[in-house]
Amino acid sequence: MPKTNNRKNEHVSLSEKFYDQGHSSFNDIKFVHHSFPRRDVLDINLSVSLDNLQFSSPFFINAMSGGSEWTGKVNEKLATIARETDLAMATGSVSAALKDPSQAGSFKIVRQTNPHGLVFANLGAGHGLENAKRAVDLLGADALQIHLNAPQEIVMPEGDREFSNWIENLQSIVNGLPLPVIVKEVGFGMSRETVALLESIGVKLIDISGKGGTNFARIENYRRKDFKLDDFEEWGQSTVVSLLEAQESVKSASIIASGGIRRPMEIVKSLALGASINGLSSQIMHMALDDVDEAILTINHWKEEIKRIMTLLGAESIDDLRKTDIIISGATADWCEARNIDKSRYAFRSKTL
Ligand code: FNR
Repeated sequence: MPKTNNRKNEHVSLSEKFYDQGHSSFNDIKFVHHSFPRRDVLDINLSVSLDNLQFSSPFFINAMSGGSEWTGKVNEKLATIARETDLAMATGSVSAALKDPSQAGSFKIVRQTNPHGLVFANLGAGHGLENAKRAVDLLGADALQIHLNAPQEIVMPEGDREFSNWIENLQSIVNGLPLPVIVKEVGFGMSRETVALLESIGVKLIDISGKGGTNFARIENYRRKDFKLDDFEEWGQSTVVSLLEAQESVKSASIIASGGIRRPMEIVKSLALGASINGLSSQIMHMALDDVDEAILTINHWKEEIKRIMTLLGAESIDDLRKTDIIISGATADWCEARNIDKSRYAFRSKTL
């Protein structure tokens, strides 16, 4: 790993340093086992279609890398994995390349490595329509992600302190960009109110990116040289809570799950909680930094494992997973009670299968 003091390098190396330290909210979710699956493994279909984007698997590589020489090399590894496993892939925020064109290559490498794959560009909500178009053009992207990361900016020593223009910016991008727009958090989760607000301005793809994996308050706190802001490290809603919150208000938008998703069982649990697809970041980064060939093998095994779990659950398609019976316990159950989420609604769904 490089020794230079570059924010993008530090984000990747610190996410790896803190890899797998989050508490998994997925432990609060259990499937009810029924003894007759009524499906064969060969019947299972993993494909997902979202806003004209076709995915062959219910997970993709979420935004992480680019903006420096080393993170360009990391992007090449991630894009190789994406190409060989047919996963969609988002780059990290391309704002570095919009400010400094000499960094463009660290993002373009993704399209060069994977010319026919689904590629998403990424920008912060401080940007307007013009930069959104530049970001998409830079990559020949199939969609644009806009990230909401207020707690990260607040803890970041050099972070933004102005957020009042975010909704206006988003609205102009959603209205003016002729491509799907995904609005995502970065590991702090979403509330039902946020999901409703996003839908009200026309957002169709919402990634609730919850707490439980990469913790950007911790990463930015570690980067601080002066006084620390430890309490922010607890900020935010878990991925499971965010998915349950989203179900309380979502109308027709598709919900994407991310944040601390590391295993096939967690992918399936997210889908059963109403997500249409899952974004994985630090887990895939961890595997890519270790061994790209091994990562490709593992991801292909995951696809088979997801099919086996779905078979046991009697779910032939990703949509069928929403008819599985789920028990919600622990801190997630406490949250449901405090926010009037009827958890018994999830416990008796398979009678409609
Ligand atoms: C990120 N993430 C991120 N998100 C985003 O929208 N734009 C970005 O530039 C970045 N950069 C970034 C760098 C690194 C090294 C990591 C690990 C993550 C956030 C990411 O997409 C995701 O929302 C969170 O990391 C939660 O998922 P995981 O890591 O817990 O799977």
